[in-house]
Amino acid sequence: MEVKTSLLDNMIGVGDMVLLEPLSEDSFLENLKNRFDHNEIYTYIGSVVISMNPYRSLPIYTPDKVEEYRNRNFYELSPHIYALADEAYRSLRDQDKDQCILITGESGAGKTEASKLVMSYVAAVCGKGQEVNKVKEQLLQSNPVLEAFGNAKTVRNDNSSRFGKYMDIEFDFKGDPLGGVISNYLLEKSRVVKQPRGERNFHIFYQLLSGASDDTLKKLKLDRDFSKYNYLSLDSAVVSGLDDATNFRTVRNAMQIVGFMEDELQSVLELVAAVLKLGNIEFKPESRCNGTDESRIKDKNDLKEMCELLGIEQSVLERAFSYRTVEAKMEKVSTTLNVAQAYYARDALAKNLYSRLFSWLVTRINESIKAQAKTRHKVMGVLDIYGFEIFEEGDNSFEQFIINYCNEKLQQIFIELTLREEQEEYVREGIEWTNIEYFNNAIICDLIENNQNGIMAMLDEECLRPGTVTDETFLDKLNTVCAEHQHFESRLSKNSKFLNDHSLPHNCFRIQHYAGKVLYRVEGFVDKNNDLLYRDLSQAMYKANHSLIKQLFPEGNPAKVNLKRPPTAGFQFKASVGTLMSNLQTKNPNYIRCIKPNDKKASHVFTESLVCHQVRYLGLMENVRVRRAGYAFRQAYEPCLERYKMLCKKTWPHWRGPAREGVEVLMADLQVPTEEFSYGRSKIFIRNPRTLFFLEERRKQCLQDLATLIQKIYRGWKCRIQFLLLKKSQIVVAAWYRRYAQQQKYQKIKRATTVVQSYTRGWQARKLLRELKYQKRCEEAVTTITAYWHGTQVRREYRKFFRANAGKKIYDFTIQRILQKYFLGLKSNIPSMSPIDKNWPARPYFFLEGVHAELRRIFHLWRCKKYRSQFTEEKKVVYEEKLEASELFKDKKALYPSSVSQPFKGDYLEISKNPKYQKLSSVVDEKILLSDMVNKINRANGKCSARIFLLTKKNVILADQKTGQVKASLPLLDLASVSVSTQSDGFFALKLKEGSSSAVKGDFLLSSEHLIEITTKLHRMGATTADREQLYIDISDEFLVQFKQDKVCVKFIQGGPKNGNGVSCKRKNNRLLEVSVPTTP
Ligand SMILES: Nc1ncnc2c1ncn2[C@@H]1O[C@H](COP(=O)(O)OP(=O)(O)O)[C@@H](O)[C@H]1O
Ligand SMILES: [Mg+2]
Repeated sequence: MEVKTSLLDNMIGVGDMVLLEPLSEDSFLENLKNRFDHNEIYTYIGSVVISMNPYRSLPIYTPDKVEEYRNRNFYELSPHIYALADEAYRSLRDQDKDQCILITGESGAGKTEASKLVMSYVAAVCGKGQEVNKVKEQLLQSNPVLEAFGNAKTVRNDNSSRFGKYMDIEFDFKGDPLGGVISNYLLEKSRVVKQPRGERNFHIFYQLLSGASDDTLKKLKLDRDFSKYNYLSLDSAVVSGLDDATNFRTVRNAMQIVGFMEDELQSVLELVAAVLKLGNIEFKPESRCNGTDESRIKDKNDLKEMCELLGIEQSVLERAFSYRTVEAKMEKVSTTLNVAQAYYARDALAKNLYSRLFSWLVTRINESIKAQAKTRHKVMGVLDIYGFEIFEEGDNSFEQFIINYCNEKLQQIFIELTLREEQEEYVREGIEWTNIEYFNNAIICDLIENNQNGIMAMLDEECLRPGTVTDETFLDKLNTVCAEHQHFESRLSKNSKFLNDHSLPHNCFRIQHYAGKVLYRVEGFVDKNNDLLYRDLSQAMYKANHSLIKQLFPEGNPAKVNLKRPPTAGFQFKASVGTLMSNLQTKNPNYIRCIKPNDKKASHVFTESLVCHQVRYLGLMENVRVRRAGYAFRQAYEPCLERYKMLCKKTWPHWRGPAREGVEVLMADLQVPTEEFSYGRSKIFIRNPRTLFFLEERRKQCLQDLATLIQKIYRGWKCRIQFLLLKKSQIVVAAWYRRYAQQQKYQKIKRATTVVQSYTRGWQARKLLRELKYQKRCEEAVTTITAYWHGTQVRREYRKFFRANAGKKIYDFTIQRILQKYFLGLKSNIPSMSPIDKNWPARPYFFLEGVHAELRRIFHLWRCKKYRSQFTEEKKVVYEEKLEASELFKDKKALYPSSVSQPFKGDYLEISKNPKYQKLSSVVDEKILLSDMVNKINRANGKCSARIFLLTKKNVILADQKTGQVKASLPLLDLASVSVSTQSDGFFALKLKEGSSSAVKGDFLLSSEHLIEITTKLHRMGATTADREQLYIDISDEFLVQFKQDKVCVKFIQGGPKNGNGVSCKRKNNRLLEVSVPTTP
């Protein structure tokens, strides 16, 4: 929603002086001061803006501010120059009304700044685009150029404009700038040759000397030293806060932007330099012989340089400074110039040179910035012109007179336009026109400009009059012509009432301007009005070989000799003011009245007397009065109703009908006297500010009440909202909490349920388990029972088998275990490996008797085998023999046990080695298996004779023990058997086969200590020889032996002890041979 604001909001004092109540100069000043102290430098008088120079930068010109004031109604915001600029721009753009902005005020009051602010605002809000921006830039950049040439430091203002300026800015239908036209008024050219104390010449001189490069200065034949130039005042050549060098560059740059060519720039600077040079030309008097005084140029160097700069022939110029040619009625009269006249001519030339240069600059700028398009333009004119100037003590001269005249005209146009507008508005709004009482200054304008008897006309008349013309004659003329005029005052006038007025000096006249009385000193009026430049000089200038100079002095052209005097300054000014006025009259005026708060260029200082003075001469009170002549305040119905509707119950808060009716109802309700206001077509007109303030006051009160109401409602609303919010929050919190609590509870129940459930399930499960287990047990029991039953049945059926088997099994197992144990025990108790070891573990069980013995046997056999396996072949034979012996005799013959331990040596006699038996061994060619000494029992007596017994493989040989002679050789084949007794004797009988060759001699009965060995070997021989049968060994205690033809029985008996230990053999008879053998113990 757009915020409806008003100028009336938050006002400091009153924002619009029209509303000042009561209206007086004091209250006016008071209001200004009050606002100024609160940094409110702008105040309105209706649509006029009063601007107080703050002399410091205020933060009110920011782009934000531009935006704030953009497209807002004039009275909507607090007073601002932007509001005026916006109003002007918008009515130009939207309503197609040409505008002019008239800025007036004393020097240093802020006019130029104001004009720049207006231009910058318009530049900011108008259209954009490359072309438009270029135009804008050129328009804005024309300022620094004109300021450099037209501004100077004065006592009042460091950057005082010394010319009046009017600039038309042209816009197209869209409101985009197209270009502009600048008009300048009355440059203060006297400043070129002379400056008041504490002031400077125009900026450009200083800027040139400080800012130009050495090169440029050299070209211009200048020195960078201010003191070298007579026209430059030295006491304030340097101004603090003003950087001339930088500004020079800015100006050059601006000139380039505006469109000056480089050569044009150069020409301009040459002219500036020429003026400086001109100032240095000095004259000295020289008396001529005819008694007249002549002048001579002192030092021609400057002249020469100047002529070089401008391309003028030096002699021409020199002559122009010495002579003056007056042409009258086809006659030329030359008179010489004295020194004073020469100086006058020089200064006149300098002034003209400079002011014409300035005008040329304006023309040149106009050329650049002029709108290109030929279409109709809308125009906004900005007039930055000096305001009323009133110097105290009658120091006012021709310039002030001219300036004040201009202001008088502006005031008139202001009154005219304001009243006209007022009138138009009344007609538009259908309000009855009541005559407005105001002071019309037309009469003063008339006093000055009347063509017949106006002051300016008188002045011109005087100037043109032949004969001696002085300021005094001029005053005299005024005294006669204007004496009757009620605004003219002079001591010498015929109007006697001033005869004794001592405040009015004799050489002065006084004009009662609308803004106050001004005392003018007539001195210089004629001269300044004449503004004389001797024709010789202008002709000399025209002859210059310098394009710019030539242009500036067209009247010097001899081809166009004009005998008529050039128009006077006053005349020219009047004419240009006339043009300006007619120009302004076609436009909608907007006023900015600038006021200077103090003389010190200081911020925050409000010098009341000074402001009062300005308020007077600016005619601000007049402004207010004119503005208030009819109705002080007017406002469209809609905003009016909007603003005050709260003052009446019927219109508050909403009025449904048309706004006008609403306002009528409102006014009736408020009982405002009817003469205080009128209803227009779209506006209500309020006659007195009083009424407005009454409304405002009521409104303020009402607003307070409303504020309270709003506050109340708002507080209520806020509390309610707060409450509702709290309630809502509480519900939310409660809901959440409940949810939480329920969740908790639910969780608890859930947990409990789970526990109960689990217990129940557990119980059920256990029950089920129990049942299942029971069932299973039952089933198992059934199975078991069945099994048992089956078993029983089966057993019953197979009992017999079972029992036997089981018993056997058990038995087998037991036996197995016992055997295992037995074998293991045996293994650990096994006896030594010696075959003769008789040890053997005890038998543990009776039933193992056989096994035990068998094992013992086997073990024995095994160890014997082991033992045997170690035997050598010989030993083996020996043992075989022993074994055979055992087989033959063991338990059969008592001698046997004693032979066991005797080794079978065989060759006891060692036949082959013993030389005794050498002969014998040579007879026996076979290998001797046994050799021993035996006894041969004599069969006859039983006596024994020793014989050598040899056994070979095939034979038994008996030889004589002493001789070794073989007594008998018995082939083994002839041997039938061998008989031995059972007793422990060594007797044996070799029985021969019957019929064999050996049998002839009969059997042999022999005895040997090695009986067992001999018989065993004999037996073995039979066993080893395949072709023989086994030799039979007969063991008995009685056997027969063949002796020749007789058979003798050999009987063995157990001998008694008396026979000693020896065996005795005795022949008992033919048939018996008894052998007694001692009993073996
Ligand atoms: N609105 C303003 N804000 C700040 N300073 C200002 C303002 N107007 C004027 N001034 C100051 O006052 C000085 C004189 O202003 P200027 O416009 O040159 O005066 P005028 O043109 O009326 O002689 C400026 O140089 C500037 O310092
Ligand atoms: Mg100025």
